[in-house]
Amino acid sequence: MSDPFAREPSWDPRRFPPAARAPRAVQTLRMLLDPQGYGLALRERLGPVFSLRVHPYRAALVCSADIAANRAVLTDHERFAGGDGAALLRQAVGAGSLICTPPPRHLPHRKLLLPPFHGDRVVRWAARMRELVRAGLPELLTGDGVAVRPWAQRVALDVILRVVFGLTDPGRVALFRRALTAFAGMDNVAVLFLPRPLQRDAGRWSPAGRFARLRAAVQDLTRTEIAVRRAESRRRGGTAREDVLSMLLEARDEQGAGLDDEQVLDELTGLVLAGYETTATTIAWTLHLLAHHPAARNALIDDLDAGSDRLLKATVKESTRLRPAVYYAIRTAVRDTRLAGYPVPRHAFVAALFPPVHLDRRLWPQPHLFRPERHLAADPVAYSLTPFGGGVRRCIGAPLAQLEVETVLREVLARAVPAPAGPPEPARLLSVTLVPAHGARARFHRRLRPAAR
Ligand code: HEM
Repeated sequence: MSDPFAREPSWDPRRFPPAARAPRAVQTLRMLLDPQGYGLALRERLGPVFSLRVHPYRAALVCSADIAANRAVLTDHERFAGGDGAALLRQAVGAGSLICTPPPRHLPHRKLLLPPFHGDRVVRWAARMRELVRAGLPELLTGDGVAVRPWAQRVALDVILRVVFGLTDPGRVALFRRALTAFAGMDNVAVLFLPRPLQRDAGRWSPAGRFARLRAAVQDLTRTEIAVRRAESRRRGGTAREDVLSMLLEARDEQGAGLDDEQVLDELTGLVLAGYETTATTIAWTLHLLAHHPAARNALIDDLDAGSDRLLKATVKESTRLRPAVYYAIRTAVRDTRLAGYPVPRHAFVAALFPPVHLDRRLWPQPHLFRPERHLAADPVAYSLTPFGGGVRRCIGAPLAQLEVETVLREVLARAVPAPAGPPEPARLLSVTLVPAHGARARFHRRLRPAAR
C-alpha cells in the first residue's frame, strides 16, 4: 500500500491556494494554541479556501472554510477521496481500519461495519450506559472543582470496552482499560502529528518508541481476545452477543467472505481511536458550557425534569457547533482540480474545517454565544453544522456517541447542577481534536431532590 505522504505534491504557490507568509513553525503553533481564532482570521485574510503550512505536511494542508467549499470537500467524492487523508493514523490503527480505507474498498467495508451502529441497535445499549455513568458519578460529584474531560474519558472508554469489545470480565476490563488509556490518549497519538524526523523510533524513551510499545501491548491483548471469541463462537455454533466485535467476527460480504484476525484488529483499534476521545471531549465541553451559562443550564434541567428531551438535543447541537470535538474532516484530491476557484493539485491533503462554518455569522446570528434554543425552531441549513463530517464518510459512530452524550447529561443533571470552577476555558488543538485547555473544569452541586428519570 503506497504512502500518501510520499505522493504529496511539493509546495508551489502557483498550484496551491493562498497561504499566510508566517513560517511553518509559527503557523503550526498558532493553530495549536488558537485553532478557532486562527481559522477564522485566515479565512478573513485569504478567502474561503487557503493553504495552511503546518507540520507534518511537507507542502500544505489545503483548507476549506465556508459552507459551499466544505460541502464540496465532504461530498464530491469524484474529486476528494477519503481514506488516504487519514494516513497519519495508519501507524496507530493499521491500514485495515475503515477510517484509513480509500475507495473503492471503502463502501463495501463500511457496509460490513454498519449493522451494529444502526440507531435501532444502538438504543439497546442505553441501560448498560446508564449503569456505567452512574458508577462513575461519585468521582464527579465531589463538590470540588474537577476536570470533566479525564472523567468523561474513563466513562467513554468503559462504554467502548462493553459495547465495542463486549468485555464483561472485570479482570479483562481492567487490563484493557490500562493499556488503551495509555495508547489511545491524544497525548500519545499526538506523536503522529510531530514533524517527520521526530516520529522515528529512537528507543524506549523516545515518544515514537513509547508509542510503538503501547501499541504492541494493545495489539497483544486484542489478538488474544479475538482468538478467545472465535473459539467461543465455534463451540457454540455462532454467537448471541450483540457487541461490535462479535458482529465483526460473524460479518460476511456478498461473496460470503469474512474478516481475518488482522482486519478485525485494525478495525477495533480504529473504533477506539475514533470514538473515545471524541465522545469524552464532547461530554466535557457540554458540561463546561452549561456550567458557564446558568440560564441555559436551568432551562435544560427544567425541561429534562418535565420529561422532555427537546432542549437536551438542542444543547448537544449547540455545544458541538461552538466547540466541535473534531476540528476537520480530511480528504485527498483525486486529480488537479479547483475549489471555490482556487487551484488544488492532485494528491494534496484537503481539510474541511468545521469551526469557521460553525461560527459564520451569515449562518448563525451572534455565533459566539451559547444559545441552545436557536436549534428548536428549525433544522440547520445543510452543511452549516457538521460535527460528524459528511457524505459517505460521515461518522459511523454518531448514533452511539449521541446516545452516550445524552445519557451522561441526563444522569448528571438529574443529580447535580454544574457551576464554574474557574474562567471559561479556551480551545486548543491536540492532533485533530479541539480540547478544553484545562480539562473543562467545573464544580457539581448536588441537587437536594434528585430528579427521578
Ligand atoms: C461525539 C463523538 C464523535 C465525533 C464528534 C466524531 C466525529 C467524526 C468525524 C468528524 C469523522 C470524519 C467524517 C468525515 O470524514 O466526513 C468521523 C469518522 C468516523 N468515526 Fe466518529 N466521531 C465521534 C464518535 C465516534 C464513535 C463513538 C465511533 C465508534 C465507536 C466513531 C467511529 C468513526 C469511524 C469508524 C469513522 C470513519 C468513517 C468512514 O471513514 O467511513 N466515531 N467521526
